[in-house]
Amino acid sequence: MNSLYQTSIHSLPLLGHGKVRDNYAVGDDKILIVTTDRLSAFDVVMNEPIPGKGKVLNQMSDFWFEKLGHIVPNHLTGVAPESVVAPEEVAQVQGRAVVAKRLKPIMVEAVVRGYIIGSGWKDYQDTGSICGIKLPAGLQQAEKLPEPIFTPAAKAELGEHDENISFAEMEERIGAELAAKMRDVAIALYQTAAEYAATRGIIIADTKFEFGLDDNGVMHLMDEVLTADSSRFWPADSYQPGISPPSFDKQFVRDYLETLTWGKTAPAPALPADVIEKTQAKYFEAIERLTGEKLKA
Ligand SMILES: Nc1ncnc2c1ncn2[C@@H]1O[C@H](COP(=O)(O)OP(=O)(O)O)[C@@H](O)[C@H]1O
Ligand SMILES: [Mg+2]
Repeated sequence: MNSLYQTSIHSLPLLGHGKVRDNYAVGDDKILIVTTDRLSAFDVVMNEPIPGKGKVLNQMSDFWFEKLGHIVPNHLTGVAPESVVAPEEVAQVQGRAVVAKRLKPIMVEAVVRGYIIGSGWKDYQDTGSICGIKLPAGLQQAEKLPEPIFTPAAKAELGEHDENISFAEMEERIGAELAAKMRDVAIALYQTAAEYAATRGIIIADTKFEFGLDDNGVMHLMDEVLTADSSRFWPADSYQPGISPPSFDKQFVRDYLETLTWGKTAPAPALPADVIEKTQAKYFEAIERLTGEKLKA
C-alpha cells in the first residue's frame, strides 16, 4: 500500500497542516480535508507514516457521518474530492479526503466517556471525579460508568495539549445555550454509535467530537467522527474491568514510546518497522470489525 505523509496540492490554497490532516480552501465556503498517514502520539507527530491509516480514518468517519446524519447536520457536501484538484493530484486525495463546508470551529472539544480510562481514570483516582463530575466510589479501571458523561476540553493550539475544562467554564467560553446543545448532541451521538458498535463486538470506551457553526449559526458535526484516532475502541470479547484493555489504535506505538526515555515533546524518536506494521494491522482490523467491510482502495 502506498503511503502519504504530507500532501503537496498546488491547485488549491493551503489553509494548514494539522497533526494528521492537511486542509485546503475550495472557493470561500468549502475546504478539502485530506487525511494523511501521519500518526501523532502524546500530541507529537511521528516521523514515519502508517501506510493506509489516513484512508482507514477517512472511511471510518464517512461511515459514521452516514449513520448519525439523523441526529445533527454534518460538514459533508457530497462534492467529490477528485473533482476539485488537478488531474496529477487525484492520487493524493483518493479514498482519504472529503470536501466539507467551511465552518467556524467551536473551540471546545466535546469528549464523551462511557468507561473510566486514560486521563479520566487518573483524575478519578486523585479526586473521585472526572473534570469535576462526581462519580460513585469504588470504580475499577476501565469500568462502565453508570451513564455516559460529557467532559469538555479547550482545543489547543498546534503543539499544545488540549486542556480539560468544567462545564461551567465551557458555558462561559461559548454561551450556556450552545454548550447545552453540544453536550446533548454529543451524548446522543455517543449512545447511538455505542449501541451499533456493540452489535459488531466493539466497545466505544470514549470519544471526542468537534462542532462548527455555519453562516446562519447552525451547529454542525465536523472534523473526524468516531475514528480510532478520536476514540478508544475495545474488543468486547476480551473486555474485563480492572485492567487497561487492548485497543484498536496506536497502542503499540504508545507502549513502545513508554519504553524509551523520551520527554514526549518534538522531535519524535524513530519507530521500528514492526511497531509500524502492527499499528497498521490494528487500524485495518478496526475498520473491518466496525463496518464489516474491507478498506476501499
Ligand atoms: N468543516 C470544517 N471547517 C473548518 N475546520 C475544520 C472542519 N473540519 C475539521 N476542521 C479542522 O481541521 C483540522 C483538521 O486537522 P487535524 O490534523 O485533525 O488537526 P489537529 O492537529 O488540530 O487535530 C482541525 O483543526 C479541525 O478542527
Ligand atoms: Mg484533530
